[in-house]
Amino acid sequence: MQLFLDTADVDAIRRYASWGVIDGVTTNPSLIARSGRVFEEVIEEICSIVDGPISAEVTALEAEGMVDEGERLAGIHPNVVVKVPLIPEGLKATKALSARGIRTNVTLCFSPTQALLAAKAGATMVSPFIGRLDDRGERGMALIEDIVTTFRAYPRITTQVLVASTRHADHVRQAMLLGADISTVPPKLLDQMVTHDLTDKGLAAFLEDWKKARTAAPQPA
Ligand code: G3P
Repeated sequence: MQLFLDTADVDAIRRYASWGVIDGVTTNPSLIARSGRVFEEVIEEICSIVDGPISAEVTALEAEGMVDEGERLAGIHPNVVVKVPLIPEGLKATKALSARGIRTNVTLCFSPTQALLAAKAGATMVSPFIGRLDDRGERGMALIEDIVTTFRAYPRITTQVLVASTRHADHVRQAMLLGADISTVPPKLLDQMVTHDLTDKGLAAFLEDWKKARTAAPQPA
């Protein structure tokens, strides 16, 4: 399963990309706004750090405007994937962008039937937001299960399932068990994923034993 870092903070992207486990990056207008920087500049800088799909979202609400914006964003770097909202105008834009060979990530997906529409419009990826469903008492992961099962049953569907709005490491564990193609990971979630108390205790014990053995054994001249 691929991991896409979900942030527009370039310092964080640089830090986590150095681990060698990040396959791409997802951003959205809220994350870009939080960075306080010019949209295009941030996307360009992210593309220079991570060599993989970088999602940049359109803000127009009509298909024509989305396509214009999408073409402009795709022109920033060949790795840019145009993020389009899952509304009727977004489906039209997805169809048009994919006909032009521009990759799309259809976002704000909250139901299996929305995901089917994204796939039929030719989306490269669809982003179901599981955390936001959990937040209101629904089971976000059930949505992933439905979409993965459906897409698997129809081999002509090539749209990748990108699990978005992940909130904790168990979301990633469940996504990988279900066979989702990609999971987003906010930076703090990567810290959670890498950390285990037994790893820390084990390492401390190994180093302590090593130190003791070296003090006890005669050292080479
Ligand atoms: O990038 C989209 C998504 O991952 C947003 O997550 O935490 O704002 O629901 P969240």
